[in-house]
Amino acid sequence: MRKPLIAGNWKMHKPLSEAVGTARALVECLKGRAPSVDIMIAPPFTALAAVNEVLSGSSVALGAQHVFWEPKGAFTGEVSVDMLVSVGCRYVIIGHSERRQFFGETDDTVNRRLRAAFSAGLIPVVCVGETEAERDTGKMFEVLDKQIRNGLKGLASDDLGRLVVAYEPVWAIGTGRTATSAQAQEVHAVIRSNLAELFDPSLANETRILYGGSVKPDNIAELMRMPDVDGALVGGASLEAETFAAIIYHSGERG
Ligand code: PGA
Repeated sequence: MRKPLIAGNWKMHKPLSEAVGTARALVECLKGRAPSVDIMIAPPFTALAAVNEVLSGSSVALGAQHVFWEPKGAFTGEVSVDMLVSVGCRYVIIGHSERRQFFGETDDTVNRRLRAAFSAGLIPVVCVGETEAERDTGKMFEVLDKQIRNGLKGLASDDLGRLVVAYEPVWAIGTGRTATSAQAQEVHAVIRSNLAELFDPSLANETRILYGGSVKPDNIAELMRMPDVDGALVGGASLEAETFAAIIYHSGERG
């Protein structure tokens, strides 16, 4: 059915040589073992091409952390989907909460990026999640519904075949406070039923929904035991090859 995905988001960490070193170490850690999950790492833009060479022939796919929707032009500082494809990216993270919080990302810009990603054949990992205040005031499901409804607006189920959703409660990102597996399952099930309602049940059934927020080697197995948790988007714990490899292995212990 849904093959789990363990994705590493390196954020603004690792200059070139460090990125290459970590990617090499990860490939080394995974050598000779056949992980039962898909694996992706998203280094910063500056390291994508070099890391792609390191990953060649391995079970680890390359992803970017962000992308602009226009194909080309006078957009200083931006990077297009074709540029990502040209350096070997298969995935792109879209709408991470840090983009929403610090760089003005909205559901509308998420939607534009998503369309561009699909048009280039990239697999988008679209992030949604509530803040602590939104959870505490009972607005969580409303917020998530809006992020999904508007982020995916105008797309048809046919377009959404490769979609990956990452549920990342903002209060759990980088805080060491992970959601409990029951909290994650509750939200993932709601997201899946939203997708079924907005599109169709078979699409909802096929869409991988990742959990993100302080995922570590010692909490991944428990999260993966939940029927609607199809993997993880890992920040801090993806920065070290051995730790990330441990998450990959423990993620296979679901069931
Ligand atoms: P974290 O980050 O694992 O460091 O909490 C997750 C993310 O932001 O994707």
